[in-house]
Amino acid sequence: MKALILAGGLGTRLRPLTFSMPKPVVPLLGKPLVRHLIDPLPDEVDTVILAVSYMKEYIERYFQENDVGRNIIIVNEDVPLGTGGAMKNVAHNLDDTFFAFNGDVICSLDMESMLHHHRSHGGIGTMALWPVEDPSAFGVVATDDSGRIVDFQEKPERGEAISNNINAGAYIFEPELLDHIPDGVVSLEREVFPHILHRGLHGYNFEGYWVDAGTRESFLRAQRTLLDLKGNMISCATRHAGVEFIGPNMIEATHLSPCRIGPHVYLERGAEVHQGAQIEDSMVLTGASIGRGAIVKGSLVGPGARVAEGETVLDRILA
Ligand code: GDD
Ligand code: MG
Repeated sequence: MKALILAGGLGTRLRPLTFSMPKPVVPLLGKPLVRHLIDPLPDEVDTVILAVSYMKEYIERYFQENDVGRNIIIVNEDVPLGTGGAMKNVAHNLDDTFFAFNGDVICSLDMESMLHHHRSHGGIGTMALWPVEDPSAFGVVATDDSGRIVDFQEKPERGEAISNNINAGAYIFEPELLDHIPDGVVSLEREVFPHILHRGLHGYNFEGYWVDAGTRESFLRAQRTLLDLKGNMISCATRHAGVEFIGPNMIEATHLSPCRIGPHVYLERGAEVHQGAQIEDSMVLTGASIGRGAIVKGSLVGPGARVAEGETVLDRILA
């Protein structure tokens, strides 16, 4: 069985970090975003197709250097084809029931159970659904009593949404879907979903957590959610005399001066934190340096970025 991951967006909402690294490989707690989708796939998924259009070489290099236990096919679009166009572009690889994902989704979906649900309900596809308070930034569905999707709206105006149940960006489709996607640049959500509902598109609700990690706020929400679940992950090689750790954190960095870290901080291997610095609810990547007495909160600090001595960085992306 195959899984398609749509990972060709430019990651504009994570700039400037995504000027130097594409969104699919931004490390969420030490693991590229897309691996959070690949690792929990059912065993019968032997091949993962990544549809990319931005910084393909970077993504290729990651999969050359890291064996993820499945065949990886990376397909590039010279010009981004949209979510539907990207799927149509790899249609020759999709000749049986397949999984498809938005590459920026982090969730507790049990993919095996969803596959079981799809097989027992039939139809052209199954879409994972998640309830949110404000659905205006998402695709919104209305379902009937049997769970079948009867209406789909992409990013409705505030107050005009037909429900609070959103498209969670995880699907299982039959290859027939590909016949309903026109050629060229196509949005699955705007140009395809509304027209296939009569072929049987079923909703699948699940429990746990769901985050679209495509913005600074939501990326950090995903990091907080996973840290709260997994607890502290502090590499035993870490020398931390005089370091005050608060709450759950993931620390790979090995040399830390006395400083205050947490809660909800990820320090990648090779990140430096100098004396008296305070870091909270942030990610600090390799080669980045947090100067003496600096304060970093709610921020993503990219590889090699420098926060000067005494500087305060709040709710920012640095790269
Ligand atoms: N290959 C390829 N080509 N991938 C693309 C393209 C493209 O042209 N455009 C977007 N993608 C990828 C993005 O990289 C991302 O992983 C995924 O498709 C969804 O695109 P986003 O830009 O993140 O969409 P969104 O978050 O505004 O909305 C989508 O996700 C929501 C859930 O997070 C929609 O599917 C909504 O309906 C959904 O609710
Ligand atoms: Mg998104």
